[in-house]
Amino acid sequence: MPHQKIYPAQDNSSFASSIAEIDLSALAENIRRVRTTIGDCEILAVVKANAYGHGALEIARFLAQNTIKPLLFGVAFLEEAIALREGGITDRILLLTGVPLEQVEAIIQYRLSPVIYDLPSLEALRRAAEAAGAVVPVHIKIDTGMGRIGLPPDTALSFIKKAVGLAGIRVEGILSHFAHADLKDSAFTQQQLASLQTILSELEAEGILIPYCHLANSAAIIQFREACFNLVRPGLMLYGYSPMGKRQAFGLKPVMRVKTRVLAVKKVAAGQSISYGQSYVTKRESLIATVAIGYADGYDFRLSNRGEMIALGQRVPVVGRVCMDMTMLDVSKVPTLAAGDWVTVIGSEGSESIWADELARWTGSHAYEILCGIGNRVKRQYIKQGKYPHSV
Ligand SMILES: Cc1ncc(COP(=O)(O)O)c(C=O)c1O
Repeated sequence: MPHQKIYPAQDNSSFASSIAEIDLSALAENIRRVRTTIGDCEILAVVKANAYGHGALEIARFLAQNTIKPLLFGVAFLEEAIALREGGITDRILLLTGVPLEQVEAIIQYRLSPVIYDLPSLEALRRAAEAAGAVVPVHIKIDTGMGRIGLPPDTALSFIKKAVGLAGIRVEGILSHFAHADLKDSAFTQQQLASLQTILSELEAEGILIPYCHLANSAAIIQFREACFNLVRPGLMLYGYSPMGKRQAFGLKPVMRVKTRVLAVKKVAAGQSISYGQSYVTKRESLIATVAIGYADGYDFRLSNRGEMIALGQRVPVVGRVCMDMTMLDVSKVPTLAAGDWVTVIGSEGSESIWADELARWTGSHAYEILCGIGNRVKRQYIKQGKYPHSV
């Protein structure tokens, strides 16, 4: 029996239960803030982790056409880079976490630039480049104090000297990563910077000139200008937040707003428990709304009995445990709220606003995790100057 079409083919965004509006004009303003702060340096726009939840391909496509255009895009893993290439991004892409040996051919095939910090990867890349008749641009990473990936500083010089002499390899950059640049006390940050500067001086003394040196993430761009060299790697600030929390002081505009639909509103008598585990019991007759977002969408379980959303311009509390797909709110103070209405999860309504950094305070986390955590079921809609060109 032939398959029967049940639903007509159509843009199903109108069926979305939760929507993340991505304001590309805010993104443009934030990258302008980066530019006005760093002057002439180049920018590597960090679009890993789906551009911190904002949609890597859409963000990269927009920035690639923007007046202030990054020199490079930064992703963590090969599959993220391939998705950008297959989506039509032809700009340089830096693989920030390094080179698994089995990926060297793909790195060359997709014209990617890897971060590199060990001899087996360097050798595998060289061989693959030779076989393909290609030259691979690499950025060499030094661990100046992050304790994550990178060469120990005392081995950096000999590694770089070896790399610059290899056919098929072009050493395009040298980089490190700050561990604590968001701190007011900059002693450790200064130490990391000095360690990288020592290596640069040693290279200079050997007559080795590497085109790009980069170290600064958002925190360093905002409060540690001397670490910007000639390339910076902003992530969080592009999306409108500051790692130090002083978003407004730096003129950053949150790019993502999240709203979710009210599924049901019901009157509940005093003494009734709400949600799994009966962790909330109504003290009086209450209006309880069930909304269509849960921890599977990135609305963190730790917001149970703690978070708030904005309904009809007023803050309303989360009551009971956050479920996988749904969350309950006490909406007694907004009695006209009805099923089908939208409530704001991240964003502003009237004089109220709840941004990712406030959610992060409630969960004991940071804005990074809140933004990256917004799940796939939350439909992204891209807006620019008030228009909704498309959704994905
Ligand atoms: C290597 C590297 N550079 C830059 C960034 C961007 O950092 P931020 O989002 O704090 O600007 C990250 C993010 O984690 C990173 O891992």
